[in-house]
Amino acid sequence: MSKKYAAITGVQGALPSYVLTNSELETMVDTNDEWITSRTGIQERRILKETDKAASDLAAEAVEKLLAKTGTPKDEIELVIVATVTGDQVFPDTANITCDKVGIKNAFGFDINAACSGFLFALTTGAQYIETGRLKKVIVVGVDIMSSIIDYSDRATCIIFGDGCGAVLLEASTDYGVIDSVFKGDGSGREFLHMKAGGSLKPTSQESLDNREHFVYQEGRTVFKSAVKGMVSTVQAVMKRNNLSADDVTWVVPHQANIRIIQSVADMMDFPMERVMLNIAKYGNTTAATLPLCLWDYESKLKKGDNVILTAFGGGFTWGATYIKWGYGAAE
Ligand code: UT7
Repeated sequence: MSKKYAAITGVQGALPSYVLTNSELETMVDTNDEWITSRTGIQERRILKETDKAASDLAAEAVEKLLAKTGTPKDEIELVIVATVTGDQVFPDTANITCDKVGIKNAFGFDINAACSGFLFALTTGAQYIETGRLKKVIVVGVDIMSSIIDYSDRATCIIFGDGCGAVLLEASTDYGVIDSVFKGDGSGREFLHMKAGGSLKPTSQESLDNREHFVYQEGRTVFKSAVKGMVSTVQAVMKRNNLSADDVTWVVPHQANIRIIQSVADMMDFPMERVMLNIAKYGNTTAATLPLCLWDYESKLKKGDNVILTAFGGGFTWGATYIKWGYGAAE
């Protein structure tokens, strides 16, 4: 019996309509467009303004459109995995809420919390259900409403993050799909990127609210250096294991945290920037959503058989790289 791979057979994004520009941020904190653009590459980001909407609403929109564009009946979906650190509530999981909103009745669902690496970890988890033959159709979503945990008086973080969602459909293929992944974690990195309160370590209290401890805390420089090192080492490892040279890689899809991180990784790996997917200027850092949003934005450029390397680094620390052989789009 030939080996089964889990191929991505469709990709779809969903974004809030409100655009938060660098010039609007200039009116909120002591910053300027020149600093933000040159230090991060970000020009604008999307923000979910509707107070009755949450992560599951963007996820439901992406999943509904994904089902429509791939012609997939709702009742054929057997599993929905949502990667997020900003789910609707601490529990239940956002995957189940998403299924309810879409009307998916035959699936189970769960969330994966691995910050910016969440989509990669969820993709490989979903792929394994397909590879074993246990399931036939799996949806993997990356969604984050970072505006719900950002302090808009902290210029070091509020200029970076945005809200967004991307979703992919996975189905079996003998030739295309998720080929291999190298994933890593280092919990000692938690001190550099975290939210101080709201979990079992420090439940919400008047004191935690007064101390503004329900927002993202980041030591940017340390995270920056670790991100470059972590992404380069895992990309190198997955390429080596699959005998790929830089020339064999059609597209690199890096987590969109900072244009300078992306350029450093590309330089160190000898990847020309024309083959590196970029959308950070439009959306900023949407945490678990950056990778599927890149695939969505570049979908029309992707061709059957392209070698695609995705890589991410984020809170935890968590990081890794995944090698995919792309499964659709006209071959050249
Ligand atoms: O997705 C999860 C993973 N996250 C990341 O990968 C993020 C990694 N880190 C970064 O992207 C960058 O470290 C930041 C964008 C967060 C910060 O850029 P940086 O070049 O590392 O700046 P810095 O923190 O070293 O700060 C340099 C200066 C400081 O001023 P002084 O001390 O030199 O006077 C900051 O106070 O820039 C100042 N600064 C700002 N100035 C204007 C910090 N934020 C701002 C701002 N506008 N928004």
